[in-house]
Amino acid sequence: MSKALSGYRILDFTHVQSGPTCTQLLAWFGADVIKVERAGEGDATRGQLRDIPEADSLYFTMLNHNKRSITLDTKNPKGKQVLETLIKECDVLVENFAPGALDRMGFTWERINELNPKMIVASVKGFGPGPYEHCKVYENVAQCAGGSASTTGFDDGPPMVTGAQIGDSGTGLHLALGILAALLQRHATGRGQKVLAPMQDAVLNLCRVKLRDQQRLERTGVMKEYPQYPDTPFGDSVPRAGNASGGGQPGSILKCKGWETDPNAYIYFITQGAVWDSICKVIGKEEWLTDPEYATPATRLPHLKHIFATVEEWTKTMTKFEAMDILNKFDIPCGPILSMKEIAEEPSLRETGTIVEVDHPVRGKYLTVGNPIKLSDSPTDVTRSPLLGEHTEEVLGQLGYTAEQIAALRAERVIS
Ligand code: COA
Repeated sequence: MSKALSGYRILDFTHVQSGPTCTQLLAWFGADVIKVERAGEGDATRGQLRDIPEADSLYFTMLNHNKRSITLDTKNPKGKQVLETLIKECDVLVENFAPGALDRMGFTWERINELNPKMIVASVKGFGPGPYEHCKVYENVAQCAGGSASTTGFDDGPPMVTGAQIGDSGTGLHLALGILAALLQRHATGRGQKVLAPMQDAVLNLCRVKLRDQQRLERTGVMKEYPQYPDTPFGDSVPRAGNASGGGQPGSILKCKGWETDPNAYIYFITQGAVWDSICKVIGKEEWLTDPEYATPATRLPHLKHIFATVEEWTKTMTKFEAMDILNKFDIPCGPILSMKEIAEEPSLRETGTIVEVDHPVRGKYLTVGNPIKLSDSPTDVTRSPLLGEHTEEVLGQLGYTAEQIAALRAERVIS
């Protein structure tokens, strides 16, 4: 069966996490992704956070499935020639080097455009144009500069980063969307273009609701669904809201049976207005049904802490899964706090291909997250990440290099 991006060739000049997330998605949709790595060294993540000596780390393998790997010294004149050939043959170049690195290598947008006017050049950078555009950036820097850290955590604690890699993987997702849009536009114009996804901008996009709240706060001076209300005064910027949903449907994380010893014996509970009657009945607080203080979502806002504490007395009497079973019968929105161990073992995620077991020639079997985006006509088959330079000869052969030319490049360490 053909795949959504069959026939598209991606020159994958990415490393670490943000860029590889993007190109892995393109590979899962069927593009031929050729990862260009430094001769002898490869992507730094191959050797980072290793759990098995000499085996490519899970950090690398879990971000580079379905790709081919070639090694190339792109600062060597002969390596530059190979890169030029690749640029002519590929549809998209994706990179996330530090600002200016591609230019310093001699591959400015103008030069790439001259070599292949149809090529799309897609970049992740930490920041867009402005005071920080020259900075190197990693995940947590982006979370801090994009507004996530200042709005995450508890009111009485410091800013906090989240475990979701919204700076790296989040930006990779944004970049993939930009690439697909540019490919579609190319059908009409015949031209390539530059695609830029700055990490700060991507994080801010994901924190859009907090900029919404900033403006609400400036206009009204109060946000009644935030845990600060009604006891703590608001300052001039959006405060950290703990586990409050912060949206139109108040929610919180509540303890379940076993919370004293199990750090994940909790449930997320939402007091959706539409099912308020059911909530009162399920937890045995029928008197709230007739109490004007609890009659509407608006009148309940000053009492949210008491409401959640009361619901928690009920959730503490059962496990998170028992609570889920009961609440779901009444359409009450809720969700268990799942540990990574529980997620790894969840059969339904295995069945949908979201958790996949992959076999690797050096490390053996390991679990990975498969393609979270499901296309009915382009199903994803997750295949292992390539070994360093595994496809160098194959790709150079396809580009027209003879065995002798390849041997000469190897002798001169242009490839390894
Ligand atoms: N052959 C020869 N040289 C190569 C090469 C190859 N195949 N691939 C990369 N290089 C060179 C680059 O040209 C660069 O050289 P220069 O500094 O002389 O110009 C050098 O390797 C280092 O690249 P750089 O991107 O600066 O790597 P780094 O390890 O110092 O920095 C980051 C890593 C992630 C901080 C940086 O790349 C960055 O800020 N990227 C943009 C934001 C981003 O994606 N961050 C998230 C990463 S998950």
